[in-house]
Amino acid sequence: MKQKYHIVTYGCQMNVHESEKIAGILRGMGYEETNATELADIIVFNTCCIRENAENHAFGNIGALKKLKKQKPSLIIAVGGCMTQEKGKTDVLKAKFPFIDIMFGTLNLEELESLILQKRAQKKRVVSIREKEGEIVETLTPYRTSYPNAWVNIMYGCNNFCSYCIVPYVRGRERSRKKEHILAEVKQLVKDGYKEITLLGQNVNSYGTDVNDGYTFANLLDDVASIDGKFRLRFMTSHPKDFNVDVVAVMEKHRKICRLVHLPVQSGSDDVLRAMNRRYTREKYLDEIEMLRSRLPETEVTTDIIVGFPNETEEDFLDTVDLVKKVDFASAFTFVYSKRQGTKAAEMDGQIPEDIQKDRIMRLVELVNSLTRAKSEKYVGKTVEILCEDYDEKKGLYLGRDEFGRMGYFQSDTNVVGEFIQLKVTKANGISLYGEKVEV
Ligand code: SAH
Ligand code: SF4
Ligand code: F3S
Repeated sequence: MKQKYHIVTYGCQMNVHESEKIAGILRGMGYEETNATELADIIVFNTCCIRENAENHAFGNIGALKKLKKQKPSLIIAVGGCMTQEKGKTDVLKAKFPFIDIMFGTLNLEELESLILQKRAQKKRVVSIREKEGEIVETLTPYRTSYPNAWVNIMYGCNNFCSYCIVPYVRGRERSRKKEHILAEVKQLVKDGYKEITLLGQNVNSYGTDVNDGYTFANLLDDVASIDGKFRLRFMTSHPKDFNVDVVAVMEKHRKICRLVHLPVQSGSDDVLRAMNRRYTREKYLDEIEMLRSRLPETEVTTDIIVGFPNETEEDFLDTVDLVKKVDFASAFTFVYSKRQGTKAAEMDGQIPEDIQKDRIMRLVELVNSLTRAKSEKYVGKTVEILCEDYDEKKGLYLGRDEFGRMGYFQSDTNVVGEFIQLKVTKANGISLYGEKVEV
């Protein structure tokens, strides 16, 4: 019987895709997947450290395995991802959970196979965390689990050092993949029947700046969108300091590129943006939105916002509220500022008390939800194209998304996962749409 693996993933899309690479490595070694931890021969935690609660989740779930590991000493528990790459965290993990067998970092994922082989041959725990980023490894084949969607890295790391953020410390400096590798990967995915490709990077707009040969993100987007076949193209994340008209011009040229831009604003106050080291102003952000919508009026914008950053005043917060209303975001990920050891903001005076943070996040969430709901209502009666992604057993309905990322549910007698369907929207429920599949 084949040995079984189970992967637990936390954090962003980048990590979700990296778990697909981990699955690729494990399958290459002969493991097969199981959803049940108690049946697994190896459990891999792909961790995140962006906020304290992400770490707490991982701590909780790793800790919960103590008993299982005692009952089944042959079980291998491996911990990788952003937490292990964080300064001092491996020591905390070692002390808290002596039963962890393997620790690896984000910068040496490709070593996982050899670390497992090493662990099988010895009793002692195997720890290998690479300190500095090396050459991009192109030999890993992800085992994709999100058909008909596929994630494609275009770059790794981040150079921005936003003062609150730990990512540059745990992911290293920006490294762009070669365009030949990216184009070959997307071509193959389209050939294999994938219908939605998302280009991934912490700051996709600075693609190529490390190589500096004049080939930009706009050029790459143009080349990827020029690949034959019916598929949707998305990209994330854009940084407002680098988002530009060249990218919008490429969007105009290709209908394949979804009319949705994820452009994290973080705050609507210039003072806070400065303290965050975001390197753009509120005005520049609003100008970009105007430029985008003047050229592509149907475009929706989503964003990320942090409240309760050190020294954020009520006035600053109201600037954020005002900006959210002005831009009329389709949706937003909203976060309470979380202090991360080693970042600039962690050293700042003026940390905001929890009750004020909570009050602000509640007010913001309410506003964002009302915008999202209002946009959903506007869908009723319209027909939209949905890429069917899955079947929801509980609801007994198929589901998929339109190009703006709206989830739509519908009934179908045949399996239409991976197909584009026309949905006549009959009902909107918060962020989700319900409707009937129609022929056009
Ligand atoms: N590279 C992307 C996003 C990376 S992290 C970008 O630059 O926008 C995703 C989001 O997590 C960020 O946009 C930010 O809103 C949030 N985030 C990052 N660090 C945080 C912290 N210390 N506390 C709260 N939210 C944080
Ligand atoms: Fe973090 Fe800023 Fe880099 Fe995004 S751009 S990953 S928020 S440092
Ligand atoms: Fe992503 Fe979390 Fe790392 S958001 S880059 S997995 S710290």
